[in-house]
Amino acid sequence: MNDIGAMDSRINKIKSAMALPAIAAPMFLVSNPATVIAACKSGVMGSFPGPNARTTADLRDWLTEITTSLGPDDAPWAMNMITHSSYGRFDDEIALVEEFQPDLVITALGGPHRVTTQVHAYGGLVFADVTSPGFARKALEKGADGLVLVCAGAGGHTGEYAILPFIEEVRSFFDGPLIVGGGIGTGRAIRAVENLGADFAYLGTRFLATSETMIPDAYRQMVWQSTMEDLIASRAITGALGNWMRASVEAAGISVEDMSQAATLDFSGDMHAGSKAWKHVWSAGQGVGAITRPETIAQVVGTLVEEYKQAVADQSKGSRYLPDSAE
Ligand SMILES: Cc1cc2nc3c(=O)[nH]c(=O)nc-3n(C[C@H](O)[C@H](O)[C@H](O)COP(=O)(O)O)c2cc1C
Repeated sequence: MNDIGAMDSRINKIKSAMALPAIAAPMFLVSNPATVIAACKSGVMGSFPGPNARTTADLRDWLTEITTSLGPDDAPWAMNMITHSSYGRFDDEIALVEEFQPDLVITALGGPHRVTTQVHAYGGLVFADVTSPGFARKALEKGADGLVLVCAGAGGHTGEYAILPFIEEVRSFFDGPLIVGGGIGTGRAIRAVENLGADFAYLGTRFLATSETMIPDAYRQMVWQSTMEDLIASRAITGALGNWMRASVEAAGISVEDMSQAATLDFSGDMHAGSKAWKHVWSAGQGVGAITRPETIAQVVGTLVEEYKQAVADQSKGSRYLPDSAE
């Protein structure tokens, strides 16, 4: 079998262990083992960012909990790693990745090349989180097996490119595994990005306020009350472009003028200490308006599966602009 055939069959194997082609995306100070386990047991891929575990010892405990709780019938899981050169805990994290062997490692804020050798050695796949075709090409040159296209409207550090042309442009030079995120919050949207050429949809905001995440209740309530018009896109909070809920920006005493400045990217210190970013200034993506009430991850996945099935059924009805059969 050629390389592409071998990769296709690996992706199909991963999909066959899932109820729908979706990933509960990693979210800083949001996802933890409870989130990952609930996602995987509900049939979508669970994931979390390594820095969410405060210390290396905590990270070991988290990885032990995840790997001992999940069984062969559960969906695969992924860990998200910062590979930026300023990230101080990189060596500890990659050693734990080698030990606990997540099915996927998703690299962010730095290239994938720092983890490919170690992850490939145990049979895992490396996906690089990218926000432009240029970064996509670079990540592939640096050995990524697949890409995560983070498009405009995403929660957290967002992309600026619209989902439709971004997928098309990347598909013009890459036919390997593709994960796509940014504003996807329904089963219909998951089906739509699949039709456009994505293998998996990446959903952060849709899972943000579920009962298994570790955010404070005030954050959950702000998610239920906010719509896309309540977001501010800014580089002021972390240095990278992020979507932030206006009410949390105001509550943190940050002015509109402050929001127009760009901060400097730096992951060298304890990411849980000090800064207002993430802890007091809260992020959500443009799909936030659809989330209005308390839900568990299993309930969200149940809704997504029903919507997805309906979208597939609707598709078979064809388009009202085309004749049913070409005679
Ligand atoms: C509160 C929050 C925190 C996030 N933190 C991270 C992170 O630590 N690492 C990462 O790669 N992506 C992070 N993201 C981005 C998500 O992984 C994903 O790309 C995004 O949520 C997809 O867009 P959506 O929110 O519109 O579904 C975060 C998103 C949110 C909403």
